[in-house]
Amino acid sequence: MKFFIDTANLEQIREAHEMGVLDGVTTNPSLMAKERICGEEACRRHYEAICRIVDGDVSAEVIATDFEGMIREGEALAAIHPNIVVKLPCTAEGIRAVKWFATKGIRTNCTLVFSVGQALLAAKAGATYVSPFVGRLDDISEDGVELVAHIVRVYRTYGFATQVLAASIRHTRHIVQCLDAGADVATCPLSAIRGLLKHPLTESGLKQFLADHAKVNG
Ligand code: E4P
Repeated sequence: MKFFIDTANLEQIREAHEMGVLDGVTTNPSLMAKERICGEEACRRHYEAICRIVDGDVSAEVIATDFEGMIREGEALAAIHPNIVVKLPCTAEGIRAVKWFATKGIRTNCTLVFSVGQALLAAKAGATYVSPFVGRLDDISEDGVELVAHIVRVYRTYGFATQVLAASIRHTRHIVQCLDAGADVATCPLSAIRGLLKHPLTESGLKQFLADHAKVNG
């Protein structure tokens, strides 16, 4: 399973990268806005900075909602760096754009996916990644992890090459559940990645080892 970090914050990306386990980054317009990145040129420079930190796929989302606009923006994003993956919403125009980019050999991440039907269309159009939003489904009392598992089952049954990128991960348990569900990738906030390390027995065990060592070594 690949690990992406779901942020546009350079410090957090650097910290996750330094842990040695980071395979990529996903961003979205809200995450870019949170970092106060404004305008095309600033976005381009920000994505370049991310690509300098991480040697892995970096999803960059279009703002346009019409096909022509998505193609224009997506081409400009893809030209920034070979690791950029064009992120497109799962709408009729978005699916059309996924198909268009697939025929040009440009990789895509079909985002805002909340059903198996949407995931099927993304795969048929040739998306590199499909992003089911786990946390947002849980927020409305649906089962986000079950959607991930369902998409994985369907893709395996029909041999689709599209990778299932579990998104909207809110906590550490989501990561483990998505692992069980067979997700190819989980994109997570830094707090959820850090949470994987936490266990009280690791902490107390280490404390005891160091205390015992100190008893004879001073
Ligand atoms: C996916 O790529 C999105 O950027 C993200 O995971 C959305 O997460 P949220 O529901 O926590 O905003």
